[in-house]
Amino acid sequence: MNTELIPSEKIDQLFRELNQLAQQLGMPIYAVGGYVRDRLLGLPVGGEIDFVIVGDAMRFARALEDALPVRQMVTYPRFGTFMTRYKGFNLEFVNARSESYQSDSRNPKTEQADLETDLSRRDFTINAMALDISEEHFGRIIDRYNGQEDLKQRLIRTPLEPKTTFYDDPLRMMRAIRFATRFGFDIAADTWAGIREHADRLAIITVERIQDEFNKILMTEKPSVGLNLLDQAGLLRQFLPEAESMKGVEQRKDFHHKDVFYHTLEVIDNVARSGGRLELRLAALFHDIAKPRTKRFEEGTGWTFHGHEVVGERMSKAIMRKLKYSNEAIAFVAKLVRMHLRPMALVSDEVTDAAIRRLLFLSGNDFHELMLLCRADITSKNPKRVKKYIGNYDRLMLKIEEVEERDRLRNFQPPVDGREIMEVFKIKPGKMIGRAKKFLEEAILDGIVPNEHDACLAYLKENWERISENDEQ
Ligand code: CTP
Repeated sequence: MNTELIPSEKIDQLFRELNQLAQQLGMPIYAVGGYVRDRLLGLPVGGEIDFVIVGDAMRFARALEDALPVRQMVTYPRFGTFMTRYKGFNLEFVNARSESYQSDSRNPKTEQADLETDLSRRDFTINAMALDISEEHFGRIIDRYNGQEDLKQRLIRTPLEPKTTFYDDPLRMMRAIRFATRFGFDIAADTWAGIREHADRLAIITVERIQDEFNKILMTEKPSVGLNLLDQAGLLRQFLPEAESMKGVEQRKDFHHKDVFYHTLEVIDNVARSGGRLELRLAALFHDIAKPRTKRFEEGTGWTFHGHEVVGERMSKAIMRKLKYSNEAIAFVAKLVRMHLRPMALVSDEVTDAAIRRLLFLSGNDFHELMLLCRADITSKNPKRVKKYIGNYDRLMLKIEEVEERDRLRNFQPPVDGREIMEVFKIKPGKMIGRAKKFLEEAILDGIVPNEHDACLAYLKENWERISENDEQ
């Protein structure tokens, strides 16, 4: 999303140019959707603006290309829509239309319509307003569904019966929650009832669209609001049933455990507060995902979750693959889930340099974000404990800085590479090289040999017999 602020004179100039063309073609044009909403809310306006053309959008596209130096024109004649870039704006134009998903199809069906019908087939009253950009009526808001009033009342409400709006596009149920979360608005009672009733219609939406909407909810200032709403609406279980299983607290004897779901929401909010990127928020979402599965009650100890980081790594990979996240995002999240307990295990006074080197080596470039996750994981309500945990991490960071300063280990690569190993020891490519490198890596991490070329080569020579024992080559 382009969030760059655009001065209003620049926008007014753009409107004038578009309107001139529209007049020549005899096709009324209106700014609609998020731009109108954000302008009325007094929010900074980004560079994306949607327009409705009452007439043939394809003809408008061709005339626009002739009249103005627009760039990157993409047209979808079947849907009566086109996009282009002009003077730093991303502009999207559609024919006034109605669009709906049929009961079993994943592809929307679109039909030409007038402005009023077009507005009525939009998702929420606050998004169903049009701004007249013609010279005569510049600035007039067309607002058949009381969007301005709902902005004042801070309400998300469908313009038509919720059932109709959500049948037209079930993803709108998630959009309602995104807008409610982002603006701190309430969802009107009938709209909310409609979402709860039709939540299972989300099944016809492609996983790519669901993922995209979910990401937007995660990227709000306080994602817990949206995640709670998704849960209460019955939407979360449609695409992330594993999150729902984190709910619930059990009490046995004097031991109860924290509700993992609500703890997770707090961790995500904490990460969001520190400005965490999407992937870090996902890591927060999944860090305890395997707690329900690994939960055991041990006499005398209470509840335990042994191995939840390992099972959690597997689960988060599988879930994220299903939701079609990128391999890069999956690898990052899996790594953080797997490692999220490690820093805590190193806070004791006797922690060795070797253990710290291992943490740095294994986390590599992601070390900083791993520490952000660990700090976000402190959700105790007991201020004394919070202080103690934060102090532990602060002390650990000092030790880490010392070790790092000494070894420069982050992004560590053993200083003797495979090619040199082949040359020096006169061996062919094969398993031995990997074995030798691993041997060296372990020795460096354990502090047996310094992270320097000559020392490492000498160490390999000294130990070559041991390394090549049982070699099958
Ligand atoms: N719209 C809709 N139903 C959808 C998606 C979009 O009715 N499923 C309409 C709404 O009128 C919306 C407009 O298309 O305002 C533009 O959609 P989009 O760019 O996705 O959202 P914005 O409202 O512009 O919000 P933002 O860009 O701030 O996310």
